Amino acid sequence: MSVIVVTGTGTGVGKTIVTSAIAAIAQSDGRRVAVIKAAQAGLHEDGTGDLDTVRRLAGAVTTRELARYLDPLAPETAARRSGLPTVGPADIAAAASQLDETHDLVIIEGAGGLLVRFDGNGSTIADAAWAMGVPMLMVAQASLGTLNATALTAEVLLKRGIESLGVVIGSWPAEPDLAARCNLEDLPVAAGAPLLGAIPEGAGQLNPAQFLESARAGLSPWFGGDFDPEQFAMTYKSG
Ligand SMILES: Nc1ncnc2c1ncn2[C@@H]1O[C@H](COP(=O)(O)OP(=O)(O)OP(=O)(O)O)[C@@H](O)[C@H]1O
Ligand SMILES: [Mg+2]
Repeated sequence: MSVIVVTGTGTGVGKTIVTSAIAAIAQSDGRRVAVIKAAQAGLHEDGTGDLDTVRRLAGAVTTRELARYLDPLAPETAARRSGLPTVGPADIAAAASQLDETHDLVIIEGAGGLLVRFDGNGSTIADAAWAMGVPMLMVAQASLGTLNATALTAEVLLKRGIESLGVVIGSWPAEPDLAARCNLEDLPVAAGAPLLGAIPEGAGQLNPAQFLESARAGLSPWFGGDFDPEQFAMTYKSG
């Protein structure tokens, strides 16, 4: 694994938190990590962007933001409204390939879901992953409605010949309802790929040491963590 692209079933599903968790473990294991935010459209309430979150949670990783738009819109729309340049698959691939030379792991986070447009040609983060020939990781919600959005995302990846690593639940509730508990069994089926983790709700507010611990518990050995999907599902088995 050297370059992976993190996508999600939509905006606000926890892509940045999952990206930070993967980066935190790799960084703590002594690997040189770089995180690319392809386009930051809209800022958090405190005026920061996703890469600020990554640095706060994962520590001293290299970060690169390829475009910043103030409007919280799809990147193409935000670029058009602001008159700023768009970011296309070639720009994302160039940044990833440059950082790949000096890092052991490059993680790319898109904006919103898989088919959000980045430029006037209708390019998406899926085109960037396909052009680079690198796998994608899906981040999904725990709640009702996630199976359809996950299946839609997975089907597009399959159709386009993009490798899907698996699915990670971005925010696992402290008190999961029936749908969330059943989804532990059904999400990997909808994704056609393994459940590679579940990051606990609230993890984004932890300090870096606590976040690392939570990342290891919430991500599979594939990412250097201890998450065991079968054991996790057993804990929450719905009667
Ligand atoms: N496990 C978690 N712990 C704490 N907060 C979380 C968690 N997952 C998501 N959040 C919060 O939910 C919101 C959305 O999460 P995040 O920014 O990771 O989503 P995203 O998929 O990266 O969205 P975007 O498309 O805007 O990049 C943020 O305010 C984040 O702090
Ligand atoms: Mg994000």
